[in-house]
Amino acid sequence: MRQVNIGLLGCGTVGQGFVRLIERERERIRVRDGVDLRVRRILVRDIQKERTGIDRSLLTTNAIEVIDDCDLLVELIGGVHSAGAYVRRALRDGRDVVTANKALLAESGRELFAAASASGARIGFEASVCGGIPIIRAIERGLAGDSIESLTGILNGTCNYILTRMEERGLDFATALRLAQDRGFAEADSTLDVTGMDALQKLQILAELAFGSSHVRTKVHGIDDISRQEIEQARSRRCVVRHVATARRLPGGAELRVERRELPESHPLASVRDENNAVIIRAKAVGEMLFVGKGAGSLPTAAAVLSDVIEISRAEARVYTGENLT
Ligand SMILES: NC(=O)c1ccc[n+]([C@@H]2O[C@H](COP(=O)([O-])OP(=O)(O)OC[C@H]3O[C@@H](n4cnc5c(N)ncnc54)[C@H](OP(=O)(O)O)[C@@H]3O)[C@@H](O)[C@H]2O)c1
Repeated sequence: MRQVNIGLLGCGTVGQGFVRLIERERERIRVRDGVDLRVRRILVRDIQKERTGIDRSLLTTNAIEVIDDCDLLVELIGGVHSAGAYVRRALRDGRDVVTANKALLAESGRELFAAASASGARIGFEASVCGGIPIIRAIERGLAGDSIESLTGILNGTCNYILTRMEERGLDFATALRLAQDRGFAEADSTLDVTGMDALQKLQILAELAFGSSHVRTKVHGIDDISRQEIEQARSRRCVVRHVATARRLPGGAELRVERRELPESHPLASVRDENNAVIIRAKAVGEMLFVGKGAGSLPTAAAVLSDVIEISRAEARVYTGENLT
């Protein structure tokens, strides 16, 4: 049994979900994957903050203590400055890193992967796009034998929540946004979400994995100028408005677009409601595949983080023996 000491940066929405999930799943992971996962230290800003069910003796405000005393670092503080510095330090020393931080990857992904490759460390980032939906793994591993032609999806749960509230309740944009903020689906500063930049960052990560191309054309249009009339007119044509991100392979490059689209009610993305995410992958051999599910939230996102931790921690790939089939 291999023991893996985890240094956790951040104990907010996803961090607390991660600690709870490890406690709940530890025994199953020990038996199934042969690793004993332990959260050794947790970095926070405020040790006195109420965190139900979290062992306060694990908390610290000393980042170096957390990073230098772990086998694997889980970064869940968000932002690019402190998070970037901590991740770089861990990678420099050859420590594996798992992160849910799409902003950091969008800004410094190439540099961080180069640092990881130089020191022999690995980076897991399944949770950075579409929360609990295993879309990174699907593109990186599941479809490694096929050639992806396009990705089309709803990558921002806040925008989708706003659009479906406008559609179902006849709300205007500002009221639907306030509702999303009251329900905890939107940040107090939701600029990145409603301008489409958050969806573009996620699309860039997926496109890089799928196409690996450096010549990329982008076009972004948010939902912040949408009117009730636009939604009603779409309804009168038996259509819905969705904020759709599309990446298409082009000769020698790729085109990335994030924009509002009017979709017929029968379109697979039309039935994706509320804060859910979805991605349609079109690949040459397999054809079209649809992934849909929770794109954010404490436990769904934590589950994606934990799956990376397990995969990196397993000494060897698990071999399926079929033992339980009889
Ligand atoms: N929330 C989601 O559903 C979701 C989904 C997908 C991806 N993500 C990503 O997951 C990451 C974490 O998100 P979250 O929603 O869990 O954030 P959060 O609730 O704001 O939690 C952030 C945590 O990090 C700590 N922290 C922040 N800056 C710090 C610093 N400079 N030094 C030490 N501690 C610091 C905070 O400490 P205190 O508690 O003491 O303030 C808090 O515990 C982000 O990258 C986010 O984009 C989140």
